[in-house]
Amino acid sequence: MDELLKWRGEFPILDRSTYLISNSLGAMPRGVYDEMRAYADSWAERGVRAWEEGWWEMAVGVGDKIAPLIGARAGEISLHQNVTLIQAVIASCFDFRGPRNKIVMTDLEFPSIQYFYHEQRRLGARVELVASGDPVRLNLEKFLAAIDESTLLVPISLVLFRSSHIVDAQAIIDRAHRVGAHVILDVFQAAGTALAKDKDEAENPEDSILSYNLGGIRMNEAAFRKLEQEISLVPLAVKLPASAASDKGEYRLSSGTVPVDRDIFRKIVVRESRMPRINVEDFSVLGWTDRTYYEVCTDPAIYAALEKKKAAKA
Ligand SMILES: Cc1ncc(COP(=O)(O)O)c(C=O)c1O
Repeated sequence: MDELLKWRGEFPILDRSTYLISNSLGAMPRGVYDEMRAYADSWAERGVRAWEEGWWEMAVGVGDKIAPLIGARAGEISLHQNVTLIQAVIASCFDFRGPRNKIVMTDLEFPSIQYFYHEQRRLGARVELVASGDPVRLNLEKFLAAIDESTLLVPISLVLFRSSHIVDAQAIIDRAHRVGAHVILDVFQAAGTALAKDKDEAENPEDSILSYNLGGIRMNEAAFRKLEQEISLVPLAVKLPASAASDKGEYRLSSGTVPVDRDIFRKIVVRESRMPRINVEDFSVLGWTDRTYYEVCTDPAIYAALEKKKAAKA
């Protein structure tokens, strides 16, 4: 028996109907009666003291319970009334009066979110509504092409409310970050379902994507951004030893010096590269994904090339 079935009894409406709505108004848990009563009792009996006797912290406590569902950590969730208002809270952090004022959105976006961003035109925003041309799927190529250097925000749903289509959010995030735009990912339909998947599992199963070309120590984008802040990385014009994926120029190298011990520093070369889609039979490159990976290079040939360049310069 499915172990989740033991929870059915907690939702009274399931005794009387098949209830498929999980978002707009989910099935009410029976525990709500007791919780609402306890809340009203606190208000009635403790009055204003109820705030410091638990209400202030309640939103943080509830947020901590939600956190694992979306891969967040304790203390990272801020609770608000609804998604559109959250978009408004986030959008209020940005200034649309400068040259970077474009908002890229799909016409399959949830309507109230579209209404909200269209209204930001009054504050200087330009809205590019990318027509999907399809009632089900996002046209990813067209969407990515709309994200350019003038883009400030990209509000996008991970799962489209209209069709349940799962959007390749990673490709959008990679593209947006490459041009300095921010993504606001709405996981309203995805939390607890699509979100449980690892990034690589969420790929199209037909695709073979290679992310280790030259060995090296891989790091995620967050680590790379942090490293960029901690040490100054200078672009390197060294050409990589030719390999299937490297001779197409789809990579960027930079170097920096990191402290490895007290008074001991080491030069590292960091590679930022687009992941190729490969033919697994002969490892030939079929094309380039919009996904980026980052690694600290360990191939001695790169360091040797760097030294040679330095010596030639001297
Ligand atoms: C993807 C998505 N975002 C947002 C919402 C709801 O927005 P709000 O909470 O502002 O009503 C929905 C509702 O179905 C949705 O499917």
